[in-house]
Amino acid sequence: MATAAPAIDSNVSRFVAQTHKMLINGKWVEAASGKTFATFNPATGEILANVAEGDREDINRAVQAARAAFETGPWSRISPAERGKLIWKLGDLIDKHLEEFAQLESLDNGKPLRVARAADVPLTVEHFHYYAGWATKIEGNTIPLTMQAANKYHAYTLREPVGVVGQIIPWNFPLLMAAWKLGPALATGCTVVLKPAEQTPLSALRLGELIQEAGFPDGVVNIVPGYGETAGAALAAHPDVDKVAFTGSTEVGKLIVQAATGNLKKVSLELGGKSPNLVLEDADIEAAISGAASAIFFNHGQCCCAGSRLFVEKKIFDKVVDGIARSAEKIRVREGFDPESDMGPLVSEEQLNRVCGYLESGIKEGAKPVTGGERLGNKGYFVKPTVLVNTNEKMKVEREEIFGPVVAAIPFSDPNEIVARANDSVYGLAAGIWTRDLKKAHTLAAKLRAGTVWINCYNVFDAALPFGGYKQSGWGREMGHEVLEQYTEVKSVCAAL
Ligand code: NAI
Ligand code: MG
Repeated sequence: MATAAPAIDSNVSRFVAQTHKMLINGKWVEAASGKTFATFNPATGEILANVAEGDREDINRAVQAARAAFETGPWSRISPAERGKLIWKLGDLIDKHLEEFAQLESLDNGKPLRVARAADVPLTVEHFHYYAGWATKIEGNTIPLTMQAANKYHAYTLREPVGVVGQIIPWNFPLLMAAWKLGPALATGCTVVLKPAEQTPLSALRLGELIQEAGFPDGVVNIVPGYGETAGAALAAHPDVDKVAFTGSTEVGKLIVQAATGNLKKVSLELGGKSPNLVLEDADIEAAISGAASAIFFNHGQCCCAGSRLFVEKKIFDKVVDGIARSAEKIRVREGFDPESDMGPLVSEEQLNRVCGYLESGIKEGAKPVTGGERLGNKGYFVKPTVLVNTNEKMKVEREEIFGPVVAAIPFSDPNEIVARANDSVYGLAAGIWTRDLKKAHTLAAKLRAGTVWINCYNVFDAALPFGGYKQSGWGREMGHEVLEQYTEVKSVCAAL
């Protein structure tokens, strides 16, 4: 029996019911074209809200506001400590409205309310608090020149904000991805034009209200919802944007790079993955089973770092696959507001079709679903958690990012070949290793071509821990102090004494 779903918070229903505007220069405005687009509830396929549809002209206005705020506005004069306090306050405000944000994420994205409450929103709060601390710690160095007599020159570096930043984010963690992007941009003193994903604009728009409430000056953060091909492309190509930061598909990442060539703006990219998760025969099997299941099924597999290629040592293959299949069958796939939901619908009809297309192609080529393998029901965009066996490295299901709850379980017998097989991908975002042998764990970790390696755990994220990809999984790192490099320019100053 399904328990009654909690009522929608009255603030949330009021917020959702509006026709949403965009935030430009501290004002909520309609699109220049007057157009709006719909965002859908993926549990039902029904329209949730209508949102101003940003396009080139709106991006122009937002960039102009961000430029003015950067060059001459109050933001260009405030102290690092004041910047830090504003960012901290934003974190506190989000925390105060945690339930509201969790409900918005669940409605717009489909994820279980429980998960948004425990993961998306608290991680967002922590992220802003972490970067609040960095605002006062962005420093240059003094540099002793090597070819000159001592005391002839005084040389030092300044670390300055890169300027106006365009940020284009995806729909899988709408609020958290906004935080990953905004935290370091604001800490370093940049100004921002943020374009949320067209599937999930609502939490970013509510965030815009809290950015105002926190007291950020007008134009520091501008939020322009709209489609990728229009608003996103205009932002990536804009000649007065100094840097673009993107999270999304590798395909669009390549378009961003091309669009950036006009003014050679800086680019950072967090792209797709096909991450290997390796279970060695000496692993704690129960821990590996539950860890590998959550590595692929967390957020319905809509994670760039999902452990989607599961390599299991032959001796324990059947046991591990059986365990994961049993975990998959226990997952309660329900709409996000159902308190018993472990997994909600995929984000959109397009994503449903993409994932089901992969399942069909895999099965046609001989892959066998041990469990799942198809859509669940015919209302909303639900897919059964799926474990595939009998795949091979030529199949699309082993090579391409599916971005759904689908894992390919692959046996291996020769531990010496596993590194090459794990690294045999155009991607290099993350990897997992399950073993009790420290030497094996760290030797493998060193050899895997991935930006993050989890040992006996998976999907552990922290604002302090850099995240990003090797190969076609991206350029640069987010989080930690590493990301600050992406948002600053270094100026060398050299004075003759
Ligand atoms: P996408 O890459 O098209 O969308 C991500 C963001 O980019 C959205 O804000 C979108 O509006 C924008 N965008 C799209 N085309 C653009 C363009 N030409 N110029 C500038 N911005 C543009 O991803 P989509 O279509 O939603 O999902 C397709 C696949 O991408 C997924 O199946 C998954 O494999 C991958 N993906 C990866 C994500 C990650 O976290 N790395 C997140 C979302 C999708
Ligand atoms: Mg939506």
